[in-house]
Amino acid sequence: MDHFLYRDGELWAEDVPLAEIAAAVGTPVYVYSAATLLRHLSLFDEALKGMPHLVCFAVKALSNVAVLKLLGDEGAGMDVVSEGEYRRARAAGVPGERIVFSGVGKTRGEMRTALIGGIRQFNLESEPEMRALSEVATSLGVVAPVAIRVNPDVDAKTHAKIATGKSENKFGIPIAKAREAYAEAASLPGLKVVGIDVHIGSQLTDLAPFEAAYRKVAELTEVLRADGHEITRLDLGGGLGIPYTRSNEVPPLPSDYGDVIRRTVGHLGCEIEIEPGRLIAGNAGVLLSRVIYVKEGEGRDFLILDAAMNDLVRPAMYDAHHDIVPVREPAAGDGLRAFDVVGPVCETGDTFARARTLPAFREGDLVAFRSAGAYGAVMASEYNSRPLIPEVLVQRDQFAVIRARTSYDEMIGRDSIPAWL
Ligand code: LLP
Repeated sequence: MDHFLYRDGELWAEDVPLAEIAAAVGTPVYVYSAATLLRHLSLFDEALKGMPHLVCFAVKALSNVAVLKLLGDEGAGMDVVSEGEYRRARAAGVPGERIVFSGVGKTRGEMRTALIGGIRQFNLESEPEMRALSEVATSLGVVAPVAIRVNPDVDAKTHAKIATGKSENKFGIPIAKAREAYAEAASLPGLKVVGIDVHIGSQLTDLAPFEAAYRKVAELTEVLRADGHEITRLDLGGGLGIPYTRSNEVPPLPSDYGDVIRRTVGHLGCEIEIEPGRLIAGNAGVLLSRVIYVKEGEGRDFLILDAAMNDLVRPAMYDAHHDIVPVREPAAGDGLRAFDVVGPVCETGDTFARARTLPAFREGDLVAFRSAGAYGAVMASEYNSRPLIPEVLVQRDQFAVIRARTSYDEMIGRDSIPAWL
């Protein structure tokens, strides 16, 4: 459930009409609903009730500091994958003891920053990374808490570009080699083993791959404990999928996912960490855009929007579907029309939808891309020299710009011309 609903003939975000935001801030613009973000966070807390746990929001999905503060103030932890994300989480007031650091390529500099600033645990993905972290920690006179990310070799049955748990992927250490890796980690002076980490992919709409992976993690926990390791935490990653269309089948609920966790690893007495991103943020955001032109082509009509692939890359990159809905609710007799929905960028790939049946939009109409809260703004670029677009947070009847639109001067001012030119 989200808080983007029609009321009095138009689409609202909580108690604010989207048209009011468009008028005040301009388009294109990302709009997030605080109530939806908090509701999704609480669903995971409820799903894990009875087990000690920490929900670590995957910052990569939506990294605006205001959003991180909203979630962090409710007790969420954060899963970060770069120094930039670490700094964002800290700037949002999240204490280091609630931040886990994931990612295959943490640099020594990033490790140092997190060790000095405070960190709950590093999720390590290779032996060279273990050695590097041990050296950095030792040089600072501290011991780094670590989990090792194991690759369980299960098929997440999701888009190939976002599956991570097969042995051919770059992520983690093959589960069959985990005992050796843990033995080495335990022997390194700068590391303290605290747990096991796994993440098999994103936008999973079936619980079976989670179940298979978590069973393997449970077995491994027993084996590692028998080897003398203290395994007190299990980080089970993120990946629970969301409905991208209002019409198709509904992916499993967080409560079903919680049951899988309870069933597979609940008996081990470990603290459970999860790293959801998309489920918390995805349906808590829309991309609001305006129709620039309606162009009648050969056998097809184009809806040309002011948003483009640089603002929301998911359709171009993953052939992802986003529902596109009118901001003014169509009246009964308004009629429908098939459009190719495109942006102004000079690439055929700048296509959001092909032959999509939509209301008969006209120039100047506002449209909203649904489910754009996760992997939307964070993946934007300034391709075609289109400045990054703003982000707005709505809470009840208030809204605030939480990231201003980049101005042309700012964008161009970042370049510099060498003295010899
Ligand atoms: N933990 C780790 C280690 C991850 O790599 C990811 C996502 C997550 C947690 C969060 O997964 P989620 O709950 O959001 O599914 N840009 C792609 C998605 C890439 C996901 C990368 N890793 C998209 O737009 O679909």
